[in-house]
Amino acid sequence: MGTIVDLIGKTDEQAVTELTAAFKNLGGKDQLHVKGSGDYRAVISGFQNSHWGQFDWLPIRVETGAWSGYLAAKSSSFASIVQIMESQHKHCDTMYVEAENTLNGGNETEGKVLMEAFIWNMEVHFGREEQILFPAFEEKTGMTGGGPTHVMRAEHEQIRGVLKEMKESLKEGDYQRIFDQAETMLILIQQHNSKEEQILYPMLDQHLGEDLEQIAKEVQLFVL
Ligand SMILES: [Fe+2]
Ligand SMILES: [Fe+2]
Repeated sequence: MGTIVDLIGKTDEQAVTELTAAFKNLGGKDQLHVKGSGDYRAVISGFQNSHWGQFDWLPIRVETGAWSGYLAAKSSSFASIVQIMESQHKHCDTMYVEAENTLNGGNETEGKVLMEAFIWNMEVHFGREEQILFPAFEEKTGMTGGGPTHVMRAEHEQIRGVLKEMKESLKEGDYQRIFDQAETMLILIQQHNSKEEQILYPMLDQHLGEDLEQIAKEVQLFVL
């Protein structure tokens, strides 16, 4: 989906320049499908530094020497935790639907890659929260122990359990079982996400103060 921007084989500096040019020509609701092979962090943080607040960055898969993701323009120029994380929730939902449709359509090879990318994105998302956002929340609000982050971490473990089962089914090629397992998972995720979107993320936006921009940038860059 979206216009492909092929940065494979480019230096990190060239990659940022080409990404900037492609982004300039991006109209309306279209998005860029970016593929790179250089230093992921250097390229995306380079782009962040010159375009902060103007875009959504949603990784598809990031590995050493091969990475890809979607870059989309957004209407508001204010980057908040609510906005960045809500768009990643949507991204994960969309990735699942795309993977299921592809497997159902009989394209096994691509469907498997997409399902793996969905599971990876869920793990990245939990990592953003557990390694960056929850500690920041606990530090700023003093709410640890039995607070909201404690509940969210426990729910992550529950969802991770289902993701692990899905991975096993994927390995065995039992797609119908994946879809059944995903049904449970999607309900868990929906309930979990709405608590974060309504309570936790807005509280972070309120409490982070001058640290907001730096933490939001780190969260957007984070991969496993
Ligand atoms: Fe979460
Ligand atoms: Fe979340």
